[in-house]
This record gives sequence, structure tokens and C-alpha cells, in this order.
Amino acid sequence: MLRVYFARQSHGPCFWQPKDVVVIGSGLGGLSCGAVLASAGREVTVCESHYRLGGACHTFSAKVPEIGEFHFESGPSLYSGLSLEASPSQLKHVLQIVGEEPEWISYDRWNAFLPEGEVNVAVGYQEVVEKLLPKYGGPDAVGQWQRLMAELKPMSSALYNSPPFGALRDDSFVPITMGRYARRLLPLFSIPGGAARLSQPFEAFLDEAGVSDKFIRNYLSLFSFLLQGLPSYGSPTSMMAYMMADLYRKGGTCLDYPKGGSEAIVQALVSGIETKSPSGRVWTKAHVEEILVESGRAVGVRLRNGSILRAREAVICGTDVGVAKSLIKDKVPELEAHFQDQWSSFEPLKSFIHIHVAFRGEGLPRQHCPEFPAQWGVVDHWEDLEAPRNCVLVSVPSLLDDGFAPEGYHSLHAYTPATEPWEDWQELSKDEYQRKKREAGDFLYKAIQRQVPDIRSRVVFEKVGTPLTHARFLRKPRGAYGWRVLAGSNLPGHTTPLPGLHVCGDSTYPGIGVPSAAMSGHICANNILSVAEHWSLLDRIPEWQYELDM
Ligand SMILES: Cc1cc2nc3c(=O)[nH]c(=O)nc-3n(C[C@H](O)[C@H](O)[C@H](O)COP(=O)(O)OP(=O)(O)OC[C@H]3O[C@@H](n4cnc5c(N)ncnc54)[C@H](O)[C@@H]3O)c2cc1C
Ligand SMILES: *[C@@H]1O[C@H](CO)[C@@H](O)[C@H](O)[C@H]1NC(C)=O
Repeated sequence: MLRVYFARQSHGPCFWQPKDVVVIGSGLGGLSCGAVLASAGREVTVCESHYRLGGACHTFSAKVPEIGEFHFESGPSLYSGLSLEASPSQLKHVLQIVGEEPEWISYDRWNAFLPEGEVNVAVGYQEVVEKLLPKYGGPDAVGQWQRLMAELKPMSSALYNSPPFGALRDDSFVPITMGRYARRLLPLFSIPGGAARLSQPFEAFLDEAGVSDKFIRNYLSLFSFLLQGLPSYGSPTSMMAYMMADLYRKGGTCLDYPKGGSEAIVQALVSGIETKSPSGRVWTKAHVEEILVESGRAVGVRLRNGSILRAREAVICGTDVGVAKSLIKDKVPELEAHFQDQWSSFEPLKSFIHIHVAFRGEGLPRQHCPEFPAQWGVVDHWEDLEAPRNCVLVSVPSLLDDGFAPEGYHSLHAYTPATEPWEDWQELSKDEYQRKKREAGDFLYKAIQRQVPDIRSRVVFEKVGTPLTHARFLRKPRGAYGWRVLAGSNLPGHTTPLPGLHVCGDSTYPGIGVPSAAMSGHICANNILSVAEHWSLLDRIPEWQYELDM
């Protein structure tokens, strides 16, 4: 009672008022940030423009008359390291802090239709050296693979057992929170050739390790491209060293999928915000039009419907940085200069074409199996993985989780991984756009047919998405996947020169991907928390240590 009374009386910050934050955008970055802050007792309000939560990671549904309801994934489908209880995964750490988590479904493989032929092998060591390399590699392929893994091992092991990235913060207190894990830092200093090798492009690492086998190099470049949006010439060795340990070490590897789909991860974070903070709220259809600045401080937001939301402690912008910039209506020169200087060296990645298909499953396996894996990729040629429409990725989540489609049916998502030029879709007439959309659908069906040859006669529902769809629903300028970050450079951090304004999401360090977006939100939250609060949240991450055999 007392609190309500005084809160009504005053507008400035008062010690008895709860500290509160407003988060713009419900992508994994914004939600992770909000959920960590809620876990530390902050009152969090998340404003999402779309009618679905999750941003790139949202799930949507469609009812097909006389058949029933289907659910579709719009974004990520490749997850790993999440079913381990003691895990190095940054997303897992956020979920452990929040105390909410989906159920994980584990599976063993993805299929790939490569220029050489079909590659249908389980993750891990065994099938790669027994089936894959003897079939497509040169005479020395197995030996080179073993040498590569041996060279990677000290790096992989140092990274896999490194301090949690959640110990990071962008201020001068970081030695304290990182210092807690000093023992875990030591292996990074004993990497042969020095820790600087971690930020070297993976291609240079392969050269140094004497890995010349064409097939291995192409296969790993594809792996890198699918994980991070760049082939091995541009991806950092650190990312590959971590992922090779995660998926190709001997024993104990698997792929993970959240029961209920990507939305289950989103729901876990939302539930954290709504239950852990006294009046946590997560709003859809709440488009933020302006970040309010008063006396040189970000103090809240104005929604499209006119409502004003005050944030006594912080406004966190989890959108693309271009959107963040556009939300500041009154010029703040230091902030403009910051956005300009810090991001000017990065180019946006390209966009997507998508198709979502519901289809009849008669005569097909009902669950993920080697004959019908839940994921497959198609690569047309090796010359340029980034070329438009060279690669397609397909996932069938209903093979892992039967809740995605009515019995006897499946739900599928196919897309080109950030290779569709935005320019190709500009200034089209309505007819031209429709024609181009049909053509995009036809192209994607060809990739689906590699695994399900008669797909077209099975279809009961389809929806094609274009770069325009992507830009409109996700509010991504140019429908881009995110920023192109070459090995050796890093995206900017999460504080800004405008007091009270923080940024997170795939425009900020470390960048694109589910674990990275979660990590950006986590670091952003740490900046707002005191060292003592930050420290006590870290207690919730279970210790892990892996003796890698690779
Ligand atoms: C097709 C596809 C497949 C992918 N596959 C994988 C994968 O297999 N593995 C993997 O790790 N990663 C994958 N990713 C990448 C990963 O999904 C993204 O990097 C990550 O989800 C981005 O999260 P984010 O929080 O940075 O941003 P976003 O998800 O873009 O969230 C930003 C949110 O802000 C909202 N917003 C913007 N402006 C406003 C405003 N003015 N007011 C209110 N709200 C606003 C948007 O609507 C959006 O919901 C994939 C991405 C795509 C698109
Ligand atoms: C504006 O939207 C918010 C979030 O949905 C809602 O709580 C508020 O009541 C709305 N305000 C008006 C004036 O409609």
C-alpha cells in the first residue's frame, strides 16, 4: 500500500521504488537479458512489435481445414550442448540462472546432399572416419582428420572448459567476476602457438595443420557457414574448435531439439520474466516508436498506441542497431557518433527465402531415423558457398516432436541460409513479386525433393517467405541475417554513451546465432547488475569439466 502511494506521488527515482527496466524486442537477446534481470529481482517489461514472441526464433501455427493444426518453425533448428546438465552452452547457462527450461529431445544426425553425393552420417567420431571419409575423402583423409582433431584438442579443451561467458561484463569490474574462474583461464594460456590462434581464420588454421584434403575442407567450410554465416576463410578458429568438440568428439555427442520447438526456449525465458519479477510483463503487439530521453538519460519508451512506459533503471534495446538508432528522435550527438563509428566497419549479411510446408506422411517413417532424418542440407557447388541459392537447409521438426502436426502429417521448413540478395526483391510490381515468390517456392521444393521425391503430391499447406517478409515481421533492415563479422574482429559491446540505454542481440558482441544472442543478453544484464548480484547469479551455473577425447 505504502509503496503504491509513494510511487504515485513521485516521478524521480526513489530508494523504496523497485528498480525497473524496459526491454525492446522479444528476440533471444532481449528475452535473455530480461530473464536474467528478472532473476535478480528487477521488474521487467518486454515490448514486442510482432504478434508472436521470439523474433528470428518464433514459431507460428496454421489450421488446415479437415486436417487440423500445424506448427512451423521460422528460424533456428540446429541446437547442441543443451541436454547436458553440466554444460558449457551459454544458452543453457541463461536457462539455469532463470530456472526454467524446455525438455530436450536428442537425435543423432543430419543428412547432406553435396556435389559428391549423399552424406548421411551421425555426429561424433565413428561414422565420420568409418563411412564418410573413406567414401568421399582422398587416400589420406582419415589421417588428416585425426591430425586436425589432435591439433584442435588443446584449443577445444580450453574453450569447452573456459569460464562461462556469463562472467563477462563490459565494465572495469570484469576482473572480479572473471577472476572467480581464474583456474579455468589457465588452459587458454597454454595453447600451443598462443591464444591469439583462436581468433585466426579457420582456413589459416587448416593450412597450418596440414589439412589439404579437399573434401574435409569443403565439409568443414559448410559446417562453419551454417553455424555462423561465413565459410572457413572468415570464421574464427575459436568457434570451430568449440563446435568440433561439441559435435565431433569421441563419445557423448548428439544434436538437441527443444520439445515444443524453438518456441519452448522462448516460453522458458518469458516464464522466467513473468514469474521471477514481481510484476514482469511480456507484451506482443507493443511496437516501440521512440526511446524517451530526458536530461541526458534514457528514461522510457513511447509505444505506437501512445502509451508511455517509464524505466527507472534502464532501457534495453534488443533490436537491430539500425532500428535502435531510429528510435532516438532527439539528436544525442555522442550516441549517433557511437553507432556510426562502432558499426561502420561491418556489412549486413544477405537475406532469406523460406517455405513452410505441411504434408501427408503416408509410407514415410514417422520419427527421425537414418532413412528420414529431421534435418538435411543441399549444396549445389563448392566454388562459393555464399552464392545466391547454392545452399538450402531443410528441417522436419514433426519427426522429433509429434506435437508439430496431426497424426500422419508432417511440418517442414526449408530456407536459403542468408544468401538471398535484398536488391533482387526491390521495386517489383505486385505481379512480378507473386511470380518471383512462386519461383522461389519451386526452387526450394527441389531441395526438399532430394529427400522426399514425391513431396509435391503430398502437400496440404504451403507458405513462401521472402526477404520482404523477413524485413517486415522481424523488423530487420534489408531482411538481413545480421552483421558480417570476419575472424579477428568483434562486434561492439552492450553499453552506450547515453546513460540508461543498453543494447543487446545479434548486432552486438558476439553476434548471430542462438547461443550468441543469449550471451549478448546475458552480458547486457550483467552491466546493469552490481558485482554482488552478478556474482550470486553465477552460483546457479553448475560446474562442468570435460576431458575431451577427440
Ligand atoms: C532462418 C533462420 C535460421 C536460423 N538457424 C539457426 C540455427 O540453426 N542455429 C542457431 O544458433 N541460430 C540460427 N539462426 C540465428 C538465430 O535465430 C538469431 O541469430 C537469433 O535468434 C537473433 O536473436 P536477436 O535477439 O538478436 O534478434 P531478433 O530475433 O531479430 O529479435 C529482435 C526482436 O525485436 C523486435 N523489434 C524490432 N523493432 C521493434 C520495435 N520498434 N518495437 C518492438 N519490438 C521491436 C522484432 O520484432 C524482433 O522480435 C537462424 C536464423 C534464421 C533467420
Ligand atoms: C498500449 O499497449 C499496451 C501494451 O499492449 C497496453 O498495456 C496499453 O493499455 C495500451 N494503451 C492504450 C492507450 O491503448
